[in-house]
Amino acid sequence: MKNFIVTIDGPAASGKEKISRYISKKWKLKHLDSGTLYRRIALIFLNENIDINDIKQIKKKISKIKKISYRKSKKIRTQEISKLASKIAVHNCVRNFVNQLQYDFVEKNKKNTGFVIDGRDIGSVVFKNANLKLYIDVNADIRAKRRYKQLIDSSEKSIYRKILKDIKLRDKKDKMRKNSPLVIPANSYIIDNNDSFIKTIKQINKIFNNI
Ligand code: DC
Repeated sequence: MKNFIVTIDGPAASGKEKISRYISKKWKLKHLDSGTLYRRIALIFLNENIDINDIKQIKKKISKIKKISYRKSKKIRTQEISKLASKIAVHNCVRNFVNQLQYDFVEKNKKNTGFVIDGRDIGSVVFKNANLKLYIDVNADIRAKRRYKQLIDSSEKSIYRKILKDIKLRDKKDKMRKNSPLVIPANSYIIDNNDSFIKTIKQINKIFNNI
């Protein structure tokens, strides 16, 4: 499946990561999580005290970033970074920077592999001509319950009501922003991930078996 692109979009905590990892392993596609890139930038801004409402400061900092790590570490999975990533993602200069990183990643690897790329705007904007587009649908309460369990399991203190509130706030920010809002991409398959993972992968296997 060289140069084959699968896009996975969906709201915060909808299980895109787990589904992407499943697809990546089963069909031997390279996984790129665009959220990691937004989170990495958010961490840089936080560490360097960049005012995220000052577009001049943001542009200046972005132009100076030479390299971004694609590594997923615990320090970029905190609630603070989640919120910050969602806030900085409204800026066009940030989005263009992240999109270019994704294009470079595909360009560099496309002779050897295909890709599964997840985020909010991958099938609708970044890779509009992808070979297969999935949109992950899960209601906010179930997402909050799953995220709460994840945080508790990783020993981070958390309060369910606060997580639900944060998820709803991020949904609002991701869906209402002017630049590349979260939408169901045209020609995408909607995957219902409200139930068990087994039921989710049944839907996905069926789609892949028909391509
Ligand atoms: O998928 P995630 O939770 O790791 O993403 C963190 C934030 O990054 C999310 O709230 C919005 C932003 N994001 C985005 O705007 N577009 C993407 N393609 C991926 C993430």
